[in-house]
Amino acid sequence: MSICHAARPRIGREGFLHLPGYLDASRQSTLLGQIRDVLAASPLYVPTMPRTGKPFSVRMSNCGPLGWVSDQAGGYRYQAEHPLTGKPWPSMPELLLEVWRQVADYPLPPEACLINYYAPGAKMGSHRDADEEDARAPVVSVSLGDDAAFHIGGLVRAGPKERIVLRSGDVVVLGGAARMAYHGIDRVHPGTSPLLAEGGRINLTLRRVRALGAER
Ligand code: SIN
Ligand code: FE2
Repeated sequence: MSICHAARPRIGREGFLHLPGYLDASRQSTLLGQIRDVLAASPLYVPTMPRTGKPFSVRMSNCGPLGWVSDQAGGYRYQAEHPLTGKPWPSMPELLLEVWRQVADYPLPPEACLINYYAPGAKMGSHRDADEEDARAPVVSVSLGDDAAFHIGGLVRAGPKERIVLRSGDVVVLGGAARMAYHGIDRVHPGTSPLLAEGGRINLTLRRVRALGAER
């Protein structure tokens, strides 16, 4: 797999990269099969907001040494076990590690892969990925399934936003100045991809959690 050099950043945010069609159809199917295996061992669950306990509209799981979880009692955090099964997260598919090596420009592999499943109607409010110790590592995300309306803003929630459509196989990198930018998913467009038989969208978010030198 090679980096698509034709795909330069579509918008001028330093450190933000949108690589449309980074994974071809065959790689998307391979990756989807591997993610289904992960989910068979580590099922999707409904996370809840810190304090209010309000459920997220996406369902989540993880793979890799650490997983991002949220619930009313414990808030946002990384942990090594699934919050419901108590089992360690399954290992990260090699294909994802390969994508990270190609686009992340970071010397260590990702420690966490958050799996978000957007059923029709699910969305994700504007937020920053701020629970990681090392903000020098980028966040790399891979989209599978239906098209999604993605927005990216700046360092304040109320600032101006740009909107792009993320399609199946697209890769996004939030690095540099964009690493702490607000972003979210306004909606998923049903029936726009044949990849997921059940419909909807899967987003895989790769992150480094611990600072360089603090890894176990
Ligand atoms: C996220 O920010 O955690 C998910 C973004 C996406 O679904 O593309
Ligand atoms: Fe995010």
